[in-house]
Amino acid sequence: MTSPVVELRGLPSHVGIIMDGNGRWAQLRGLPRTEGHRAGSAAVRRVVRASRRLGVRALTVYAFSEQNWARPEDEVGTLMELLQEFLVSERGEILGNGIRLQAVGNLERLPAFVRTVLDPLAAESAGNHDMTLTLALSYGGREEIAAAARELSIEVQAGRMRPDDITAEALRARMPSLAVGDPDLVIRTGGEQRISNFLLYGLAYAELVFSDKLWPDFGADDLYAAVAAYQGRERRFGRVGKGVAPLSPTKAQV
Ligand code: IPE
Ligand code: IPE
Ligand code: MG
Repeated sequence: MTSPVVELRGLPSHVGIIMDGNGRWAQLRGLPRTEGHRAGSAAVRRVVRASRRLGVRALTVYAFSEQNWARPEDEVGTLMELLQEFLVSERGEILGNGIRLQAVGNLERLPAFVRTVLDPLAAESAGNHDMTLTLALSYGGREEIAAAARELSIEVQAGRMRPDDITAEALRARMPSLAVGDPDLVIRTGGEQRISNFLLYGLAYAELVFSDKLWPDFGADDLYAAVAAYQGRERRFGRVGKGVAPLSPTKAQV
């Protein structure tokens, strides 16, 4: 396969990825689902590297949803171990390449052995600004909206804000996942065409690209193909677009 042509002009600034299909990847090989998650972890490495090289400013990867806690205990346990291993093994790559690592979601629910590697890496990389890598962990878009609404209601109750101050922007400003800006492009792998509670509020005008590839099979070229598809779209944000070229007179008469 020849690499898709990506222009360096008009890159999406913030890319979100719903990394789906690890379980099916393993099942297709007669392996336990956890092996799919292991292979998925290697795919995260490849895609982080490719995004940084491309010049994407912010990459948000959906690694574990608030709803994923309902999976079998051993699968959740393996996912947490892989997350910890990822943070340990990528530490050098993150710090050495100007990557700022942060996490969004209900982090209180994460086990202590994850927090003890996550928190120091987030603190140490906080001054980096080549690319922000955000891990969405124990994350839910609805939960994030509810948390922002709670914060605003506290402000109103304390008399620091009026109900009229509760604007779309006031809500947006209280969503940690959007501190890097709204996502421009959101990719979902694994063939399903749904959002599964990812970045709900920020998705308003994101371009969506769905890939049939299972996440462990997703590589740099697939990322480039998604970015090239994004570059071929016309974002209108509710306004009137450039439209299509007018028909030539002969064609118009037909
Ligand atoms: C994505 O792969 C990883 C997580 C949701 C943690 P899945 O585990 O959902 O894989 P499928 O969708 O069952 O194939
Ligand atoms: C979305 O995948 C969550 C992550 C990729 C972390 P799921 O596999 O959990 O989503 P559903 O259940 O198919 O909607
Ligand atoms: Mg899935």
